[in-house]
Amino acid sequence: GSPDLKRAQALITTTPDFPEPGVQFRDISPMLADPEALRVVFDGLAAPFAGQFDLVAGIEARGFLIAGGLAAAAGTGMLAVRKAGKLPNPDVRVEYDLEYGSAVMEASGDLRGRQVLLVDDVLATGGTMRAAYDVIAELGGELVGSAVILELDGLGGRGRVPDCRTLFRM
Ligand code: PRP
Ligand code: HPA
Repeated sequence: GSPDLKRAQALITTTPDFPEPGVQFRDISPMLADPEALRVVFDGLAAPFAGQFDLVAGIEARGFLIAGGLAAAAGTGMLAVRKAGKLPNPDVRVEYDLEYGSAVMEASGDLRGRQVLLVDDVLATGGTMRAAYDVIAELGGELVGSAVILELDGLGGRGRVPDCRTLFRM
């Protein structure tokens, strides 16, 4: 990547043994807090899909940060893909596996005719992103692409969502 992207990546911190022993927790918060890093990271994420989407979907919770920023910059709408129990009468409900346990994702809206870019902060096992693909499809949207800031190596995410773009891998 460019020197600017390398500088941005260097702002990601690593905490050993969080949230469980043996897990290396990567935190992109310091990178997002840096104005220059935020700009190059958001530009880099959206660039491959420029002009191809009219809605950015983000996955709760940290994916909302990414989706909101990209949508505002591109002049599109945005959609929140939510965890269970937050929406009244959700139109769709998809169950998925987590690194530890399982969860449910919900969303509402008519996405027929919409070109959707789906984003999140981190790709780990890929279960979250895979479930969000299903959410978008069930709402009638066309997924034109998906992207995350950081892909974690060795957890199998790439195998579950082979077409997902990633800016950094660690
Ligand atoms: C994290 C991360 C991704 C997901 C990746 O979210 O933000 O959404 O896990 O994991 P996977 O690829 O193994 O499915 P988390 O569930 O911790 O929720 P949060 O964003 O609300 O903190
Ligand atoms: N960092 C942030 N989010 C995550 C991680 C991580 O290391 N693993 C799974 N989700």
